[in-house]
Amino acid sequence: MSDDGLTLRTLTTDDLPALSDMLARAFLSDPSEGFRHREGLVFEPDRSHGVFDGDELIGMGEILSRKITVPGAGPTPFAGITSVGVAPGHRRRGALTRVMRAQLHGLHDDGAEPIAALWASESVIYPRFGYGLAAQFYRAKIRAKAAYQPGVELEAERVREVGREQAIPLIKAIYDKEAPQRVGALDRPGATWEFNLDDPEGRRNGATALKFAVLPDGYAIYRVKSDWHEEGPRGTLIVQELVATTPETYATLYRFLLDYDLIGTVETFAALDEPLIHLLADPRRISRSGGDSLWVRLVDVDRVLKTRRYGIPVDLVFGVRDAFCPWNTGNWRLVTDEGGNADVTRVEDAPDLELDVIDLGAIFLGGTRPSTLAAAGRIKERTAGAVSRATAAFASDREPSCLESF
Ligand SMILES: CC(C)(COP(=O)(O)OP(=O)(O)OC[C@H]1O[C@@H](n2cnc3c(N)ncnc32)[C@H](O)[C@@H]1OP(=O)(O)O)[C@@H](O)C(=O)NCCC(=O)NCCS
Repeated sequence: MSDDGLTLRTLTTDDLPALSDMLARAFLSDPSEGFRHREGLVFEPDRSHGVFDGDELIGMGEILSRKITVPGAGPTPFAGITSVGVAPGHRRRGALTRVMRAQLHGLHDDGAEPIAALWASESVIYPRFGYGLAAQFYRAKIRAKAAYQPGVELEAERVREVGREQAIPLIKAIYDKEAPQRVGALDRPGATWEFNLDDPEGRRNGATALKFAVLPDGYAIYRVKSDWHEEGPRGTLIVQELVATTPETYATLYRFLLDYDLIGTVETFAALDEPLIHLLADPRRISRSGGDSLWVRLVDVDRVLKTRRYGIPVDLVFGVRDAFCPWNTGNWRLVTDEGGNADVTRVEDAPDLELDVIDLGAIFLGGTRPSTLAAAGRIKERTAGAVSRATAAFASDREPSCLESF
């Protein structure tokens, strides 16, 4: 027990009711059977930490054992941080800090996954624990029936709207093909699909249950919400996920959604480099707003940097600061070869670049450029040309994308 009377321990399945109810309250919901069921689906008790005031669970965080696609090397184990919450009334007393320390120091001590990543409810929470903004996405509202540019090729096959049970095996197979190709995408083991497609009435916001549209090389998961006006119907179609492994399938699925009768607006979200806007004859039929998706934390700088491949051969020394995980503080030499493989060693040499571990997390997936962080004053160049070389080395063909909030 510490000075403030709070204790920390790993959780057990017996803690599920208490933790579900505490999380429901933390996330502005009413505790419910449905919430408990959902929490139980992906809960890994041994990898979850709870903070207690006496016997009362007042704070927690979970680690999910998942894989994330990293540049050039495909799916790689990472610690998916989720279900982070502290009870109202116990906040700003360091409970979250304790959970974060248990997670990150534990991963280091155990030699477990070298990367942690999460979606943040609020962007101010995680940088203090070393998480950097590694992937972004955009939300889009598209006017229904918006025409495509001439020359956009569509599938000959018609899109079919199918029932949930029929859709699930088809969409799983398509997703498993796509995720290893897309940097930032996650694998979906165990009950992850059930968790992602959990669809209680309370989460529908007045819209229908989830609907499924499929083609051999892609699918869309969405809901529709009716809205009747004297001038005509203006319903909304809300996309939860759209995955396509060919450009024709991508265009055909969006054509299907945009042409859905009685719909005025299609609301969706997309990776920064998705071709959506370029399909449209009039790009102003789409309005966009930005959002952050993955925040990445390097648990062990040397172990992580070796997991991915690099765009060009470089020999650079990174001077890293890491207040929360001090074993990372120091100078790290990254040497990459023609094949993109990396060797990383601790050195005493002067750094070519100085940065915080937050910034290394931000650039790791290739979505945030070192040159951008240098322009923001976050990365300091100590050897001329080092920023440019690091930018070329960390770049990847496609933007990292994780359109699955976990
Ligand atoms: C976010 C949350 C878990 C923080 O828990 P907490 O126990 O209050 O956090 P701590 O006391 O350990 O805070 C550590 C530091 O972060 C700051 N901080 C934490 N949460 C913050 C927030 N939401 N906004 C601004 N600052 C925050 C604290 O002020 C503190 O700063 P200090 O070290 O300078 O004093 C809690 O507010 C919560 O449950 N929020 C609602 C659910 C949620 O958003 N969970 C996160 C899901 S990704």
